[in-house]
Amino acid sequence: MKPIQVGLLGIGTVGSGVFTVLARNQEEIQRRAGRGIRIHTVADLNTQRAQELVQGQAQVVSDARTIIQNPEIDIVVELIGGYGIAKDLVLEAIAHGKHVVTANKALIAVHGNEIFKAAHDKGVMVAFEAAVAGGIPIIKALREGLSANRIEWIAGIINGTTNFILSEMRDKGLDFNAVLSEAQRLGYAEADPTFDIEGIDAAHKATIMSAIAFGVPMQFAQAHVEGITKLSAIDIRYAEQLGYRIKLLGITKKTLSGIELRVHPTLVPAKRLLANVEGAMNAVQVFGDAVGTTLYYGKGAGSEPTASAVIADLVDVTRLQTADSENRVPHLAFQPNALQNTPILPISEVTTSYYLRLAVADQAGVLADITRILAAHGVSIDALLQKEAAEGESQTDLVILTHETKEKNMTAALLEMQNLKTVIGEIVKIRLENLS
Ligand code: NDP
Ligand code: HSE
Repeated sequence: MKPIQVGLLGIGTVGSGVFTVLARNQEEIQRRAGRGIRIHTVADLNTQRAQELVQGQAQVVSDARTIIQNPEIDIVVELIGGYGIAKDLVLEAIAHGKHVVTANKALIAVHGNEIFKAAHDKGVMVAFEAAVAGGIPIIKALREGLSANRIEWIAGIINGTTNFILSEMRDKGLDFNAVLSEAQRLGYAEADPTFDIEGIDAAHKATIMSAIAFGVPMQFAQAHVEGITKLSAIDIRYAEQLGYRIKLLGITKKTLSGIELRVHPTLVPAKRLLANVEGAMNAVQVFGDAVGTTLYYGKGAGSEPTASAVIADLVDVTRLQTADSENRVPHLAFQPNALQNTPILPISEVTTSYYLRLAVADQAGVLADITRILAAHGVSIDALLQKEAAEGESQTDLVILTHETKEKNMTAALLEMQNLKTVIGEIVKIRLENLS
């Protein structure tokens, strides 16, 4: 059978990996897909670099629309990134009846609903395995492998840059800014790392997983997002002393009142596998009612790991291309007419445990005042660590771990504690998840 024809939009880090891996493993991939997968044309702004990469094995053009309008091309792979031109090109490709494969998590999380509707109306597939956790096949696991389950929660380390920074802060006792420069020097963090360190990249990925796990539309705007820029080395040390590690987790949970969707630094018990995922690696833990807990670990970024996921999508699209569109795997795992409008809960309604660090005056009655306020708001203490005041110092650190409570109770208690004359400076609050 004639190979399926692919148009590649963007041959940067991921695009070049797709080209290399497809060429290297062509025979194996063809045996799996049932026919060859051939890159027909590559579009990139830098045509000279693209020519050097493809070595005459594909046509090179500078205008991506040449690919979209070419009737010989069956699948368009979008590897440009961002929500600007990438969105226009994806929608135009769909309008031309092309199947689309993309690694663009920002595009899917923010404009996915519009894109899937257009694809459904046109009867084409949009595949996005590489958009979450790079090389880890987590979309396939959620959409197909776990389809017998009521998924209860997902918690993931889904941004390699921030996990690298947190690992280095813990290992070397360095502060955030020092490690960020190192991450940039090593090429993990972007030149403008805002999306990574402010948690936005992780929130894009958590939004996508939430939609697939619970059969709801993409709701990125409702996600609660906090990054790691305000974390200090001292909290990482205190957490360690109490048997926890701090990770930037993307969390989504189904509760009776709605769906939690949040990204924030989180204390995780040090004995959990997730707490031991170090450096730029990613891992996602999923809890399903039938299967229990499952864990997926691997490289969340990089040229060939991400290409691995893009090509898996190419194989899937090639296999399913001839299937009646109603009988393909639905984009969001659930049939489009079975999606639910379950609300995403505001952060005030989220239930979790907390780590608190208070700088307090070293005098009688301070602890009594704090425990009284917590009790009045129904917040129960799980553990407490009080440092002896250093010689000549009149203040000390008080670290408290709480049991689970609603965020609004904690916010009210924090407000009262913050007003105590004996509490010095801003109280640090970090959420804690036992993941059991
Ligand atoms: P790169 O910046 O390395 O590559 C993008 C390429 O697209 C560049 O070669 C760029 O050319 C080209 N380009 C930009 N605008 C156009 C255009 N209008 N027409 C044609 N080509 C264009 O990005 P990555 O490969 O790192 O990322 C691609 C996508 O994959 C993004 O959505 C990203 O979020 C996602 N992703 C990336 C991962 C990674 O590890 N890098 C991991 C998981 C997902 P030029 O350089 O000349 O501007
Ligand atoms: N910047 C992302 C990360 C790339 O650090 O994980 C992969 O999505």
